[in-house]
Amino acid sequence: MDIERLNQEGRALWNRKAQFWDKLHGDFGNQFHRRLIEPTVLQLLDLQAGEAVLDIGCGNGALARRLAGLGARVTAFDFSEELIRLAKARRRTNLPMVAYHTLDATDEAAMLTLGAGRFDAITCTMTLMDIPTIDPLFRAAARLLGKGGRFVFATQHPAFNSNNPIFVQEKEDRDGVVSDHYAVKIRAYLDLPPVKGSGAPGEPAPHYYYHRTLSELLEAAFAAGFMLDGLLEPAFTADDGAAAQGLNWQNLTQIPPVLSGRLRLA
Ligand SMILES: C[S@@+](CC[C@H](N)C(=O)[O-])C[C@H]1O[C@@H](n2cnc3c(N)ncnc32)[C@H](O)[C@@H]1O
Repeated sequence: MDIERLNQEGRALWNRKAQFWDKLHGDFGNQFHRRLIEPTVLQLLDLQAGEAVLDIGCGNGALARRLAGLGARVTAFDFSEELIRLAKARRRTNLPMVAYHTLDATDEAAMLTLGAGRFDAITCTMTLMDIPTIDPLFRAAARLLGKGGRFVFATQHPAFNSNNPIFVQEKEDRDGVVSDHYAVKIRAYLDLPPVKGSGAPGEPAPHYYYHRTLSELLEAAFAAGFMLDGLLEPAFTADDGAAAQGLNWQNLTQIPPVLSGRLRLA
């Protein structure tokens, strides 16, 4: 895998998509973010007022703003210059300032310029699966965190949602009652090359997803000195599904599309 080339292609694509992404998420994230990602990340993070938090792959800053609103001192970075420009444009006078940087999460040395031991916690949501190598990120994270620091992530669930699942809808007539059933079909889990996916409905360009099995994902963190001490698997509920018809995650209330976890330095 040509990591450098794929990463540069990713940066160009995210710059192209930045306006779309910024509109999709607004100030505090879309439904996927607000219903699945943010609640699990906040639960695992157990944020204390005044803590220094770094958000990696911050997009338009939706989570960074939320954390700042909860009293954290937030630094956030993304490799897309356009997304950082749009994140800064959403600065509000009624929220504490977020310090934004344009940085590449595959560049360990660049990340370390933020300051060793400076952060109480790191967050990284829906970004690990978009990066061709995550070893430098975890190595840098281990050094950026102070003693007892925690790293809270949310990513596409490796078992159900990072391997191009096929959405299935079936109609059943049982005892005179017609009902719809929804499912996902998984054809492969172990060895999958990077594949392009269309992202959120309407995204202007597909980008690469890097599927990692659960063991590959966690092994990268363990190798950098982390241990896992919290795990959540959020799914939509019947209330979300009632609002959305058809083949989408809102109708799959028994299958979690997101995996959120908390890592701590061992
Ligand atoms: C799916 S978005 C998630 C954004 C945000 N964290 C959220 O939860 O809404 C993935 C983000 O990762 C960023 N990204 C991808 N590769 C990166 C890299 N090598 N370094 C830094 N950011 C990267 C993209 O620019 C994009 O903002």
